Amino acid sequence: MTTNTSDASVIDKAPAHNSMAPEDTAELRKLYADFEAMHLMPLWTQLGSLMPMHPAPQAIPYIWKWSQLYPLAKRSGDLVPVGRGGERRALGLGNPGLGGRPYISPTLWAAIQYLGPKETAPEHRHAQNAFRFVVDGEGVWTVVNGDPVRMSRGDFLLTPGWCFHGHQNITDKPMAWLDGLDVPFAYQNDVGFFEFGSEKLSDETTPDLSRSERLWCHPGLRPLSGVKDTPNTPIGAYRWEHTDRALAEQLLLEKEGFPGVFEPGHAAVRFVNPTTGGDVMSTIRAQFHRLRPGTATPTRRVVGSSVFQVFEGRGSVVLDGTEHKLDIGDLFVVPSWVSWSLQAETQFDLFHFSDAPIMERLNFARTVIE
Ligand SMILES: [Fe+2]
Repeated sequence: MTTNTSDASVIDKAPAHNSMAPEDTAELRKLYADFEAMHLMPLWTQLGSLMPMHPAPQAIPYIWKWSQLYPLAKRSGDLVPVGRGGERRALGLGNPGLGGRPYISPTLWAAIQYLGPKETAPEHRHAQNAFRFVVDGEGVWTVVNGDPVRMSRGDFLLTPGWCFHGHQNITDKPMAWLDGLDVPFAYQNDVGFFEFGSEKLSDETTPDLSRSERLWCHPGLRPLSGVKDTPNTPIGAYRWEHTDRALAEQLLLEKEGFPGVFEPGHAAVRFVNPTTGGDVMSTIRAQFHRLRPGTATPTRRVVGSSVFQVFEGRGSVVLDGTEHKLDIGDLFVVPSWVSWSLQAETQFDLFHFSDAPIMERLNFARTVIE
């Protein structure tokens, strides 16, 4: 839904004092004490924070620089073994506004995962939905329900909820990537289950293409064995060569005077579940953006939270009116209703994920373009 009627200053027009509040008397103080003893909380003292005039997130807009993240991940690789129990050498990005929890937003988890040379992360499964995005490197295979999936630069890989998964690095070089999950959403709503799987990967082969891709990744073709719609995508990996080509063609079409770009100078694609045409997973939307050099996007406010990672090029993001320079690998979070726009210095490629499927399904989605 798009509306142009929102005004950020409207919150300031809310009454400063509660007009229902009677005079402070001994009787009233006793009433409040009796409320407390019964675990009762009067709405009239809390309306402003419970029902703000517009979303007032505790999460704050924040940038993590890859140049600082990667060395810390590497030091973890040198000092902390990966294996059963801890399961993953993953560094969750904790939003400074969220009280020390490892949540980048109230719904989303983002982490840098680091796997050293010849290391294996054992198999497990959980109700939480997960994906991986590879900003750089190669040589790791993730095995999802027994299907080995190559992880290479620019690839977007899926591990939907309750799929067993483990990783192996077959090379002499470490590899780091972005993990995205709905961990905070699952935690807040008490929907999490977890199960250990095999310590050894269930398939240690390293095919170029996973079985899921061989079955599903042919443009416009759906296997008749897969005629039943599934809530999560059956595709294990969306390859960079396809994403890159799709974005390049949008910009070429624009240059030739044909429609196709999302907005002027801004190509964008969404990763979708081929059985439904909807999002890849029930809680997470993933998209990719490419801006021509010099392009600036309009300023938006969106209900729900988003995380971006720069894949290629240089530019900046303006978050809540403050400009931040961005380089390859840098990550930033846009909490609900915080205004944002992107500006490209060079051609600028960004991976983007959000909780939009939750907001849309629950009918809370709202966007304004300022
Ligand atoms: Fe996992």
